[in-house]
Amino acid sequence: MKLSIHLVLVCCLVVAVKFDETSASTCSYSCYTQQKYTITCGWLNWSRCSKYRSVLSTCYKICPVNGGWSDYVETGRTACSATCGPGIQVRTLSRTCTNPSPAHGGLTCQGDSTTTEEVDCNTRPCPVNGGWSDWSEWEEYDECSALCGTGEMDQWRSRTCNNPAPDFGGADCSGVSLENRTIDCNTDDCGDRCPLNVVKYLEHPNNNKRFYQCDNGVAKLQNCPPTTIWSQADLNCVSENVPIPPEHVPAPPDDECSNGKHLTPDPTDCTKFYKCDSGRRVGEAFPCGPNLAFNPNGYCDHKYNVPNC
Ligand SMILES: *[C@@H]1O[C@H](CO)[C@@H](O)[C@H](O)[C@H]1NC(C)=O
Ligand SMILES: *[C@@H]1O[C@H](CO)[C@@H](O)[C@H](O)[C@H]1NC(C)=O
Repeated sequence: MKLSIHLVLVCCLVVAVKFDETSASTCSYSCYTQQKYTITCGWLNWSRCSKYRSVLSTCYKICPVNGGWSDYVETGRTACSATCGPGIQVRTLSRTCTNPSPAHGGLTCQGDSTTTEEVDCNTRPCPVNGGWSDWSEWEEYDECSALCGTGEMDQWRSRTCNNPAPDFGGADCSGVSLENRTIDCNTDDCGDRCPLNVVKYLEHPNNNKRFYQCDNGVAKLQNCPPTTIWSQADLNCVSENVPIPPEHVPAPPDDECSNGKHLTPDPTDCTKFYKCDSGRRVGEAFPCGPNLAFNPNGYCDHKYNVPNC
């Protein structure tokens, strides 16, 4: 008896549906099928194997995905509108519809993919050129060169390059910061103070090292030589009193000098004496000499003749 071979084909359809839980109900389905064979073999010969086929379908719910914009990134920038000082720059920003990209019939992104915005740019400050301050008031170097009859006076004034001060490589002020001028002063007529063709000297009102000398009707300012002062009594510059150093200041007049004597003992050293002049001690103490002391009677004497010495 001939052995018949049974080939049994069994088909079964399995539909598995997998849902995307977040999807809208309008979502479409997308399925794929997959065939699967199962081979069962007999004892003796492989040809006796039976093939079983099963078909498996898996379905997915496919929902539309609306596009979303990415963040902006800068894709360009113009040069600054000013080479110095505050300026404006335009920068271009771009975005793409990739966050997420539209899919499955979803909407594409709305709006422009590029935008521009102005930003401040200030690369470096502009140079500031210097500017002068106002001139100061005129000031005198010295008083008028004449008391009356027209003299001259030298004056000066100054200004400063600080209005504004040069900065950021700006130019300095040009021109002088100090100015001199000479003006006429005391133009009033001297009259009787300085009659014409008369040599006359006038006292300075508040500076005894100066005086005025009349010259052709002009009272001209003159200076006394150093260490002298003007004496209207002498009509001349006279030696000024040199102050006596403190250690040589004479003691107050004592009885000896005031009695008309020419010499007086040194009260601190009995071997010395002072000379008297007009009832006052003058100069320094003189020593009497070896083994001598000054006798209060008015002369140098042996020490033993001088009591308490
Ligand atoms: C197995 O079976 C096939 C056909 O069904 C045949 O051609 C073959 O010769 C056999 N082999 C053996 C070893 O039996
Ligand atoms: C102005 O006068 C003073 C004093 O006489 C002198 O030192 C100075 O150089 C003068 N300056 C100018 C700019 O003339």
